[in-house]
Amino acid sequence: MDKFVIEGGHPLSGTVEISGSKNAALPLMAAALMAARPCVVRNVPSLSDVRTMTGVLRELGMDADYDPASRTFTASVRDTSRCTAPYSLVKKMRASISVLGPLVAARGYAKVSYPGGCAIGTRPIDLHLKGLSALGVRFKIEHGYIIARAERLKGAEIYLGGHYGSSVLATANVMCAAALAEGETVISHAAAEPEIVDLAGFLNAMGASVEGAGSTRVVVRGVSSLSGADYSVIPDRIEAATFLIAAAMTRSPLTVKGAVYAHLNAVIDKLQEVGVGILRTDAGLEVVPSERMRPVEITTLPYPGFPTDVQAQMMALLALVRGTSFVTERIFPDRFMHVAELNRLGADIRRAGPTAVINGVSRLSGAHVMASDLRASAALVLAGLVAEGTTEVLRIYHIDRGYERIEEKLNLLGARIKRLPAEGVY
Ligand code: UD1
Repeated sequence: MDKFVIEGGHPLSGTVEISGSKNAALPLMAAALMAARPCVVRNVPSLSDVRTMTGVLRELGMDADYDPASRTFTASVRDTSRCTAPYSLVKKMRASISVLGPLVAARGYAKVSYPGGCAIGTRPIDLHLKGLSALGVRFKIEHGYIIARAERLKGAEIYLGGHYGSSVLATANVMCAAALAEGETVISHAAAEPEIVDLAGFLNAMGASVEGAGSTRVVVRGVSSLSGADYSVIPDRIEAATFLIAAAMTRSPLTVKGAVYAHLNAVIDKLQEVGVGILRTDAGLEVVPSERMRPVEITTLPYPGFPTDVQAQMMALLALVRGTSFVTERIFPDRFMHVAELNRLGADIRRAGPTAVINGVSRLSGAHVMASDLRASAALVLAGLVAEGTTEVLRIYHIDRGYERIEEKLNLLGARIKRLPAEGVY
């Protein structure tokens, strides 16, 4: 297991290029299960989650391959008799649940390991099951597996709102299955994330008819089969946000190439409220740092609200902003594992239910910290960039799930981060 050793206090400068979106790529890869012809997905980031999804798809009888040099994923269906996504792979990555809809729609049968909880909460799948049931899928839960069967899927009107709002991957699963259902499906309270728009674009490129993606009402007119497609995924808005925040924290002028302004409205709005300048350029976004920053109140919400996946990184920034900031988590109310670790670095953050109360401190000091999940680890790396002395971030396999070569990208900008094997067991 590797760790990062970060020498704090080095300013950043230059241009960083954003990779393709992990959260867009994974459901697209899963949707290739439904294609009658080969699929090519480009701009797929080189991440361990992408390798896990490639493994899941091979297990499901696909000739699936990922080429990290060209960032290209290719897949075609070889053996439709293999319909089990095993525990050994699903436990590595919850997004494996996104094979459920495509698999049962294409083959009439799916057996997918029931995903467990994770460091950010219990993560139920009731909306996935509700949406697919409405299309005619019958479910049994047996020995830790979801067993799904359907002879014929039929379009339906489906309300997909849950206790915490819309669900991204439930919307993805239902949209995929509806693409091969008979008749029209209307999903209301659909997730409106850009990754859902990208999936709709991919499905339409395969010959599906999906309208309204990006709004809360998605209409899918089923077709009898889907062809292949050659498609390129959108840039990763969460990675882009992480670099915007890195620039703000290190008070560095940075160009974030490929960042899509329209996907980052809520993050940019909050950074501007803090006092950080963000300019839109031809290349992407440019950060104009500020010495004087102001505390803010943030609530995470489904898109276009402030993304939960940027909450931890923003908290690392606010830890150093004089005054009191409040961050309320409305998507995953237990997503606060990073609070204790940021406090080990000298932050003053207190949790009150779903809200973190952040009293800005003037400095952080390097320490050993433990990454608990993907975005929490990014927050700790950001904190390490500005902490005095050396910060060691352990369990960085979390960060490798979702950030392509983050230490190399930051080092090219002037950071000092070493990836070393961690001694002992963590
Ligand atoms: C996706 C993203 C993840 C992001 C999250 C919220 C991928 C691969 N992952 O995860 O990075 O943090 O969206 O933006 O795209 N819920 C239910 N019942 C369900 C499903 C979800 O109650 O059946 C709840 C969840 O517990 C959570 C909320 O709905 O409170 C939103 O979760 P959801 O959008 O489903 O997250 P994912 O799609 O798993």
